[in-house]
Amino acid sequence: MEHGMPDDATVRAALALAVRAPSVHNTQPWRWRIGDRTIHLYLDPTRALPATDPDQRDMLLSCGAALHHFSVASTALGWSTIVHRLPDPEDPNHLAAIELVRNHPTPIDVALSEAITRRQTDRRRYGSWPIPPGHRGLLVERAGALGAILRPVADRARDRLIETTRAAAAQHAQDPEYLFELTIWSGRHSTSDGVPTRNTPSPRPKDELPARKFAGGELVDTAEQPDAAQLLVLGTSADDRVSRLRAGEALSAVLLTATNIGLATCALTEALEIPELRRQVRVGVLDDSAYPQVIVRFGWAPTSAPPLPETPRRTVDEVLDRFEIRR
Ligand SMILES: Cc1cc2nc3c(=O)[nH]c(=O)nc-3n(C[C@H](O)[C@H](O)[C@H](O)COP(=O)(O)O)c2cc1C
Repeated sequence: MEHGMPDDATVRAALALAVRAPSVHNTQPWRWRIGDRTIHLYLDPTRALPATDPDQRDMLLSCGAALHHFSVASTALGWSTIVHRLPDPEDPNHLAAIELVRNHPTPIDVALSEAITRRQTDRRRYGSWPIPPGHRGLLVERAGALGAILRPVADRARDRLIETTRAAAAQHAQDPEYLFELTIWSGRHSTSDGVPTRNTPSPRPKDELPARKFAGGELVDTAEQPDAAQLLVLGTSADDRVSRLRAGEALSAVLLTATNIGLATCALTEALEIPELRRQVRVGVLDDSAYPQVIVRFGWAPTSAPPLPETPRRTVDEVLDRFEIRR
């Protein structure tokens, strides 16, 4: 194995794709550092959402997605990754130290990396064309390869998940601190973070699965039928920080794979941000066999749907710490 360090342009190219990762409220809660032989990922506590995400689970998922995006991009650029998760017991925010090894990317590696710039959160209604079981099976397999459980949710379990999401939306609507954070981080027009109004459809009170009530609502929803999205719950067998980080990596794999097969996706965590409701999802949807980490809506965007506007990101320079560390 040829360990090493790619040139600066290659590292920056991989980081430029890593920052396209999805994150809760588009907070982009990550910082990156470049060492002599290793790339380091840190959680950025200044971007926390204490009322929405008090135990930083959504933040860890977001950073896990960025970590997986980095690995996918780097592999496609000819450097596979060896990831050491939570390498420093003295610093819980040091999420990963990443070693790089020369490789020859496969066409699948390249295709997955190409999906990064095409993947977007699609909050519109999805069409009712059937989804081949093989598509769902592939998503389940990709999550499983990264140590997560991806459970398709139907029938009574789906009803329970919808009920729980409704209960979360109702509780959040009465929580001034949650609403304050949501207002700060959404309804945006021209910043490099937060959820822009152009990516948020106007409220649809009749939908059975309530969407998070971001401020704004300029995205035109062309679907005339009720939403036919299918639901998945991604879970893990443990619920510690490393499991949550890994769940974010698996989320990234699921979203990029879905993008590659043409499916629209939207991650949802509102129902899991309230401990008692999260417990209900664990028991009522996952049969008490795994800890739910994130819900994924997926389906076909209507053929009449125009391309989604891109959500903004901070640049690599804005998330890269200036000093180098010698490790
Ligand atoms: C952990 C996590 C939780 C999220 N929760 C929600 C949610 O509850 N509702 C929603 O509409 N989008 C949710 N998202 C999607 C983000 O808002 C989205 O990734 C971000 O705005 C960037 O947009 P993009 O995914 O189109 O690049 C979540 C994403 C992550 C990673």
